[in-house]
Amino acid sequence: MIRLTRLNKSYPMASSKLHVLKGIDLSIAPGELVAIMGASGSGKSTLLNVLGLLDGYDDGDYHLDGQRIGQMSETKAAGLRASLLGFVFQSFNLIPFKTAVENVALPLYYQEVPRRKRNKLAEEYLDRVGLADRAGHLPRELSGGQQQRVAIARALISNPKVILADEPTGALDSQTSLEVMEVLREINATGVTLLIVTHEREVAARTRRVIRLRDGRIEGDGPPETVFGTASPAPAAFAHVVASTSDSAPAAVLAT
Ligand SMILES: Nc1ncnc2c1ncn2[C@@H]1O[C@H](COP(=O)(O)OP(=O)(O)O)[C@@H](O)[C@H]1O
Ligand SMILES: [Mg+2]
Repeated sequence: MIRLTRLNKSYPMASSKLHVLKGIDLSIAPGELVAIMGASGSGKSTLLNVLGLLDGYDDGDYHLDGQRIGQMSETKAAGLRASLLGFVFQSFNLIPFKTAVENVALPLYYQEVPRRKRNKLAEEYLDRVGLADRAGHLPRELSGGQQQRVAIARALISNPKVILADEPTGALDSQTSLEVMEVLREINATGVTLLIVTHEREVAARTRRVIRLRDGRIEGDGPPETVFGTASPAPAAFAHVVASTSDSAPAAVLAT
């Protein structure tokens, strides 16, 4: 689904350039569930932005869903983003004066889907994240976890093959983080490839593969228990959260 070959990316600076991604080699198969970890400044967001066609790169190769991404035009990149990719951000990025259902429907508005049809679909996707009863609420009337579930429904509505999430639980408490993580895992279980940037071990432990970046290079890549060097993927302190999440609405309804 994703293949990077010796990819380099730098940012131009006043008198030099900042080399951020340093020869990244990476393959991600369809349907994988991957966490990207690393210290602040190690290049995680830069990597996600390149993968999401939000930013270009200097040299090396990027293949997405079999297509080579060279120096493509913004129009072409926007087309690929709309047809293949979904995004989830730490700050939710919901439009404050639009209701939950209108926020979810927004990508379809840009695709010129008629209003009645896009709102009906948006209600279905809200239902899939357990928020059918919040469709008419504004973002400020929702909790952080609920807002992020609205954002996830918005990312899903255009039926992406890949979802890129940059610290999706970064603004949430640990219980809510794991609830959102369960929603993301259910989405992955339907076949969507999922990449999650996180610095929370409890979140990364609930993926199947952890890629650890250090100073723009991959310094670890494998199952969480291997990369963390311990055999405790789900700390006992979180067991009750996982148990209580699995019988609550959001995760269970996603199985369709
Ligand atoms: N648009 C930009 N212009 C210049 N430098 C940037 C830009 N975005 C990020 N950087 C720098 O690139 C490095 C990696 O940043 P980033 O990818 O955001 O790291 P992370 O997400 O791992 O914290 C940092 O040193 C950061 O300051
Ligand atoms: Mg970042």
